[in-house]
Amino acid sequence: MNDETKQKINKRYERELDKGERFWPDTIFKDLITSLAIFLVLILLATFIGIPAEPKADPSDTSYIPRPEWYFLFLFKFLALYGQLPLIGKIEWIATVLIPGIAIGVLTLLPFIEKNPNRYYSKRILPISIMTVMVTGIVLLTLMSEVPTVSEDGSTLLGTLQTTVGIFIPLTAYILFAVFKSNTRLMLWTTSLAAVSMILISGTVLALAPEKKTEETEVATTLVDQIFAGQDLYSVYCTECHGDDGSVAVIQGVEGLEGEEITPINSRDVLYTITDSAMTEVIAYGRPNAGMTPFGKTYGGELTRSEIDYIVVFMRYMWDDRFEVPAEALKPLFPPLAQGEVPSYDVHIQPIVKRYCVSCHRAGKENNNYLMTSYEEILTTGDNVDKNIIAGDEGSYFLQVIQEHAIMNPEAPDEELIGVMPPNRALKSNIVEVFFRWIMSGMPKTAEEAGALSTTPTPTP
Ligand code: HEC
Ligand code: HEC
Repeated sequence: MNDETKQKINKRYERELDKGERFWPDTIFKDLITSLAIFLVLILLATFIGIPAEPKADPSDTSYIPRPEWYFLFLFKFLALYGQLPLIGKIEWIATVLIPGIAIGVLTLLPFIEKNPNRYYSKRILPISIMTVMVTGIVLLTLMSEVPTVSEDGSTLLGTLQTTVGIFIPLTAYILFAVFKSNTRLMLWTTSLAAVSMILISGTVLALAPEKKTEETEVATTLVDQIFAGQDLYSVYCTECHGDDGSVAVIQGVEGLEGEEITPINSRDVLYTITDSAMTEVIAYGRPNAGMTPFGKTYGGELTRSEIDYIVVFMRYMWDDRFEVPAEALKPLFPPLAQGEVPSYDVHIQPIVKRYCVSCHRAGKENNNYLMTSYEEILTTGDNVDKNIIAGDEGSYFLQVIQEHAIMNPEAPDEELIGVMPPNRALKSNIVEVFFRWIMSGMPKTAEEAGALSTTPTPTP
């Protein structure tokens, strides 16, 4: 900087001082006000909007793919692309240490390399060019961070395009900058071409990218939601052996455990002696020697840590007399039927079946191939599909077995073809009544269909 410019700058500074605005306290005061405002906005956002809760961390869940915070995504993508390069792709420290190190080094040293006193853009082409290519790269890599580097079908097209944007074009641009050092024009051309081609190729990548599969993980945050989530999980996974209310003392209808005596898990014997963490462990690990398979993902089961926690919450609040159930958690399973009202699958049958039958009547269970997880399955599956559900017929096997009349095998009259259902306990009479009216009225699916049938009172069994 020569003396003339120094003087000019000093003069300007004096003039600003004369206007009466000082760094201390004027500017600092403005800064404080601004930061206070930002702070308040953050508090408001955190209070009223917040971020969605994720399921509880489960260190044993190997299917979880960790992702960095958004401001590191570009680096994450860069590493993935670098790993695809031939030969040097295997030498990780180049990408993790050397290149970021050089980049930060160059940015730090840039003011010392470029000692141009001018602040005018056209006089500062080199730093601006370097920054333009770098920032464009960072933004584009962040945008593309969700696009897989290696496609599931093994195609390398997307990966190659991304590597072009993230590595080849910037590298070429930097080499050209070094070559054109003193030629402003060529430097400008290089920068614009690099930036535009990077943007166009990234656009293509984003357009071609396979649609992201969003995996819905339900997170129950309130106690009532957790109880309901636990209830649903319990119905599917546990009812089979322990009954819908945990009171089963002799297992029935479960292959291999027929007649097995167990302690009812809704009893004080179990609830008072097993702590929450021990309970979680029992469910995760099962009781393999006694015939209860592991449920935790850690041990090869199907349930996550949060799901097991919900089951424990459900068991505590519903069965443990030391806990008080919140009133909202006690809503009835289905709306009670009025005189002459016909129940529908959607409103009545589905929740009942889910609570009392699906635990055994789903794929992979011993159940005469009778699946009950959807309306269609209930009507069209089962070894005795033609006799199970016959609209308007009281003799339908379904209606017989839920009323504790086992169906005998016509070929071997003292052998049961179908035992009573559910095998471990009788259904309450109001539930039997719902099934009875539903089948006698022709199994309507929706509430509207049922409503149309609901004019005349139906006879009760
Ligand atoms: C295939 C049958 C089966 C299924 C399904 C099953 N259990 Fe069990 N469970 C058992 C058996 C058998 C025992 C051992 C009972 C005993 O020793 O008294 C047991 C024991 C338990 C115990 C410990 C009882 C004690 O006395 O220590 C708990 C708690 C329990 N089960 C909860 C569950 C929960 C919750 C589920 C659903 C996620 C479930 N079980 C699913 C068969 C099963
Ligand atoms: C503990 C397991 C279990 C539960 C819970 C259960 N079932 Fe079953 N179900 C079976 C098994 C096992 C069979 C095969 C026949 C047998 O062993 O009696 C079966 C067979 C049936 C059949 C005959 C299917 C055919 O085509 O042969 C019907 C109908 C049936 N169940 C209805 C129900 C209904 C309705 C519920 C709920 C209210 C229910 N089941 C709950 C285990 C269960």
